[in-house]
Amino acid sequence: SAAEKGGFKHFMLKEINEIPEAIESALVGRVESDYTPSLHELDEFNLEKVKRILLVACGTSYHAGLVFKYFAEKYLDVDVLIDVASEFRYRPIRLTEDTITIAISQSGETADTLESIRAVKKAGGKVIAISNVVGSTITRESDVTLYMNAGPEIGVAASKTYVNQLIVLYLIGLYMIKKRGLWRQEHGEIVKQIVESPKTLKGIISNKGIETVADNYKNYHHFMYIGRGINTATALEGALKLKEISYINAVGYPAGELKHGPIALLDPKFPVFAVAPKDSLYEKMRSNIEETRARNARIVAVATQGDEEIKKIAHDVIYVPEAHEDLYPLIFAPVIQLFAYYIADKRGYDPDKPRNLAKSVTVE
Ligand code: G6P
Repeated sequence: SAAEKGGFKHFMLKEINEIPEAIESALVGRVESDYTPSLHELDEFNLEKVKRILLVACGTSYHAGLVFKYFAEKYLDVDVLIDVASEFRYRPIRLTEDTITIAISQSGETADTLESIRAVKKAGGKVIAISNVVGSTITRESDVTLYMNAGPEIGVAASKTYVNQLIVLYLIGLYMIKKRGLWRQEHGEIVKQIVESPKTLKGIISNKGIETVADNYKNYHHFMYIGRGINTATALEGALKLKEISYINAVGYPAGELKHGPIALLDPKFPVFAVAPKDSLYEKMRSNIEETRARNARIVAVATQGDEEIKKIAHDVIYVPEAHEDLYPLIFAPVIQLFAYYIADKRGYDPDKPRNLAKSVTVE
């Protein structure tokens, strides 16, 4: 009913608007007053010694895991081997003393993720679960669970839970940095921005320009999302969100792969969504956008406030406030969600109940 949706047209829109409070809940008890993370429930895993992290998840949760891979490998002496659960579970599992597994599942009931956990446990490994549902099967079968505390999510396509997965994963990475004596001032700045992110994201969610831009793209049949580095995940998740609820054929690629195939698709009927923050890969990204422009594709870019240059190459720009470069996946999350939401709604589809999809997939 309308009351359940808190005055919003759909649960998805309501849940995107709940992101700021969801983040607050994810942070409760997990950040010290000196802006360092505290996740003492992980102390039994010998985080000082871990060399390999196996990361397993499906769908949106997999994309959150991809953000963690970039983040952890940048600051820690670890390899993060990430795979979708439906593949992971059928491949050999090599465990060493210094390997831990992280399984991410909003519902805690996804069959392939659960079977992956069982396979790791059977091989003698330890599993940290990240889940939103207290007492779900995956939480019961893992060694420890970090709850994302996003509150119930009704919309089938994940929104606020993706954001809270990112928050928990950043905190795991930062906690490992702290435990291993690698803490620098920069990390304190990252934590500070995470703590302030409810306010930052509230501002982004209220940006009416996202709907206006979405309106320009609602009639296309195809879409290509591109990003680099840690925002490869943003591109993949943006494309997933759009295809899930609007049924537009959206594909996501690391921008450097364009020239190896996908660029052949581009023409005026095939627009591009470019994830282009002012980060250390900005110049590379800008030349990728120029390549797509040369194929006469229409381009919408998400960019950092103050970047005037991007306006010269993109047809539409959605600006977000400047952030630490590794936090852009968090900053962009509501943008890709609202963009997909408005396109789905404008095309006349119910974003809460996409065809052929289930909130939690308990079959293999
Ligand atoms: C389903 C949902 C997706 C979700 C995926 C993984 O396919 O439609 O939105 O990302 O399952 O779900 P989980 O609960 O394991 O995070």
